[in-house]
This record gives sequence, C-alpha cells and structure tokens, in this order.
Amino acid sequence: MRVAILGVGTVGEAVARILVRNASIITARAGKSIEPVVGVVRDLNKPRDVAGMHLSTDLSAVLERDDIDVYVELMGGVDGAYAAIKRVLERKKPVVTANKALLAYHRDELARLSADVPFGYEASVAGGIPIIKTLRDGLSANHIISIKGILNGTSNYIMTSMMKGGVKFKDVLKRAQELGYAEADPTFDVGGFDAAHKLLILSSIAYDIHARPEDILIEGIENISSDDIAFAKEFEYEIKLLAIARRIGERVELRVHPALVPKDKMIAKVNGVMNAISVAGDAVGETMYYGAGAGGNATASAVISDLIDIARGINPPMLGYKAPIAPLSLVPKGEIQSKFYFRLNVEDAVGVLAKITKIMSEHALSADAFLQRRDDENSLEATLFFITHTAFEKDAVKFMQILKSSDFVRGEIFMMRIEE
Ligand code: HSE
Repeated sequence: MRVAILGVGTVGEAVARILVRNASIITARAGKSIEPVVGVVRDLNKPRDVAGMHLSTDLSAVLERDDIDVYVELMGGVDGAYAAIKRVLERKKPVVTANKALLAYHRDELARLSADVPFGYEASVAGGIPIIKTLRDGLSANHIISIKGILNGTSNYIMTSMMKGGVKFKDVLKRAQELGYAEADPTFDVGGFDAAHKLLILSSIAYDIHARPEDILIEGIENISSDDIAFAKEFEYEIKLLAIARRIGERVELRVHPALVPKDKMIAKVNGVMNAISVAGDAVGETMYYGAGAGGNATASAVISDLIDIARGINPPMLGYKAPIAPLSLVPKGEIQSKFYFRLNVEDAVGVLAKITKIMSEHALSADAFLQRRDDENSLEATLFFITHTAFEKDAVKFMQILKSSDFVRGEIFMMRIEE
C-alpha cells in the first residue's frame, strides 16, 4: 500500500521513520507492506529525517497521482486541509488525518464524503491513546454517561511544571514547543481550543452531537497565577485543564476549563505531556485510558494504526453511526453547574467582606470556604479566595460582573471551577 504524507513536520517524520523501522511487524499485521512514497512539504531545504522518503512541494500534483493508495493529512489548519481531503475523497482514496481543528468544524461533511471510503482519525485525539476506536468500537454497546479528560499535552506539561514550581509560563511553553508538543499557534493549546476540538470529536462519537467550538464553554490556563498555585497546594488540589462531556437526561453538557481537582483523584496524578480520559458507560461502568497525548512517535503510532486498518480493509462508519439517533441538545453555558473558586484583590477596609457575601447571596452563591491573604502588613489591599457550593455558571458570571464594577475591587477577578 503506497502512502503520501501531506505535511512532514514532527509527526510526518515519525510516521515515515516508524513505517520503515517497524516494516516487518506492520506488514505481518496489515497483510501487505505499507510504504511512505512521497511527502509534501513547503520547504525542501529544511533538514528532515524521513528514512529516504521522496519529498515534493507540489501538493496539487501529489493529490492527482494514480500510484498513491492512501493519503495521510498532517498539514494542520482547517481550510487548506479540508480542500485537500475533499479532493482525495472525491477520487475515492482513503484518508488518515490527525487534524482535530478540521474535524471540530467539518466532521459531519467528512462523515458524508467518506461514507464509502475509509477515513481514519485516531491521531486527532489524545496522541497515542487509541480513544477513537475505544469509544466508537470497544464501547459501542453503551450509552455514554460522561467523558472527562486531560486532552492537551502542552497545557498539562505547563501546569505540571508550574505546580512543581520555579518556572515561568513562557519558559515552559517554549520547552513544550521545542519538544514538538505545541500547536503551530500555541494559543490553541493554552487557550483550551485544542482540547475543545478533541472534546467535540469525542462527543460526536458518544452522542452524535453536532456542536461547533463556538457553542461550548472554553477557557484556558493563561490567567492562572502564582496565588492560585499556592492556594491549590495549600488545600491539596492539582490544577488541570479538563475537557468534560456529560449527559444529563436528553441534554449534553460540554466544557473545557482549568479546574481544581483533589490531589488524590486519578486524573490529578496525570502529569507532564501525558493525557488521560475517563469514560463512563451505562453497561461498562467507569473506564480510564492513559498515555502520551502529544509528540511525534506517540501520534505516529495512532496514524499507522489507521493505515493498518485500511490495509486490512476495515471501514467502520466514521463517527460510529449507521443511522441517526434521537437528537440530544446542548446544556446552555449559563446552566452548567459546578463549584467555583474566586480570587480577587480588594481594598482592605471595614465592611468589604460583608458586601461581597451579600452580593453572593443575592446570586444564589453560597460560600463553602474563604481565605484572606496580605503579602505586606502595611498594604491597603488584601487577596481574597472563595470556594462556593454548587451553583449555576450564569450566577457565578453575574457575581463577577457586579464585583468588577464595585469600587472596593482592585484589578481582575479570576474564577475557576472545582471538579470533584
Ligand atoms: N498540541 C497538542 C497537545 C498536540 O499538546 O496536546 C496533540 O494533539
């Protein structure tokens, strides 16, 4: 089986190398050899370790070649990648992609276009963890109750380093980029968008839901401060960027945000670039999957597993449905419920705390715990930390808005959810 790789970066290089290095076991499992024939790149002069694979800059010509059996799309981006894949599927050639942003926007069209052509996307979620096949095929007997995961390796790498201490956000991000974990635009990682793209893919499989990134709650890790880290450590929490899908009756809640997670939870122990996903099904109960969520070799492992499936002639429905199911709707963002953590700087004066708790009670927010810190004895400001009982997102947002316009609040207010 002859393969073209569209986009030869960290993952494309690893795919070419592993196909050559592990050729004999791959051939035995696939029933035929899988050969990286050509890679499409922008710059032929950039040094690449591709085990002798031929390189070309002519994407259009490679897309029209008759001697290519399967195309692996690793270009990234949405529009260019969609156009290339559409052309390949129109030519009835199988596609494998790792492109989660593309799938977050075009998975329904791609499911239609690939109805009779194999389309693999195992590498699009959680790098080396085979979560697509697990959810779509292994757990296909179940109603999925919930999915909760750490789906962005870069953010988890950054949060782990920050919790260990002594490192600056920018320096850790740079290291994650050097290691090949981060997206071309790393705001996708730290802003929560990459995790949201992956959550949408998983929730399409779990719930046949057709949401887009704009429809769901997405917050990143950029505003987490050393105060939040100190608070988390003191009260035995880890801070994790979580992606959560939960079925509640005929509705599904989808959200991505940093959360305080009690230290003893399994997901709190997932560190560095590792990803983990807990999936609860009505028949199977709770299951959990763990592995490297980013990096060339781990992602190439998933890409090649799709190539092997195609060589074997396996072609399941892309999102796992041969017929539509009764549609489920999204829980509106404001109706999502959780416990909240707030951090704010206030004027250190008589009556401020009473004013804040009054605003809280007017918005159905009940304080569970409260802490005040003052770095300097002579300072006229104090930092307050609140933890609430379970409340609605819309009430927490309103509470923040009112506080922001209050004369006793200094600077920004930071809010984070607590996930127990
Ligand atoms: N930038 C992504 C991450 C790569 O850090 O998880 C894997 O999708």
